[in-house]
Amino acid sequence: MAIRQVLKMGDPRLLQVSRPVKKFGTEELENLIADMLDTMAALDGAGLAAPQIGVPQRVVIFGLQSNPRYPEVEPIPMTVLVNPSIEFISSEVESGWEGCLSVPGMRGKVDRYLRIRYTGFDQYGTALEWEAEGFHARVVQHECDHLDGILYPMRIGDLRDFGYEDVLFPELAQAG
Ligand code: NI
Repeated sequence: MAIRQVLKMGDPRLLQVSRPVKKFGTEELENLIADMLDTMAALDGAGLAAPQIGVPQRVVIFGLQSNPRYPEVEPIPMTVLVNPSIEFISSEVESGWEGCLSVPGMRGKVDRYLRIRYTGFDQYGTALEWEAEGFHARVVQHECDHLDGILYPMRIGDLRDFGYEDVLFPELAQAG
């Protein structure tokens, strides 16, 4: 399939609320997901939401093996999630650094719920349910925010915790 251009912050399409997918198993949905997987892999992303490539539908993908952009986090299984919903298992929150392919070169510290249960469907309409915590829970919350037009900088509590990746984490820049 194809590596698609990722929209950058400032593009009003990133602020839209995306529509639920109504039909599963279609060629259109298959092609969308194939393009999202190619694009995320090419850019070393931990996740990607359909509106980031200009498609306002409620589709996210995420997953992490060993990723040079996130060297110190536990692996996350590669997941395709359509029409997701999130339930917070506890009110406990954790502060942590995030990046986003739509905000290249930057990192910011965001509070996220520590433990979540999320549900949705795969591309064929099979229901999925998972529980996650820590960075995995963070990635799911970040990606699902994109479906509601929310970018992580909007959630930074103190803007002093926002800056350039190569300044905040020079060791990552050296790693390439
Ligand atoms: Ni993002």
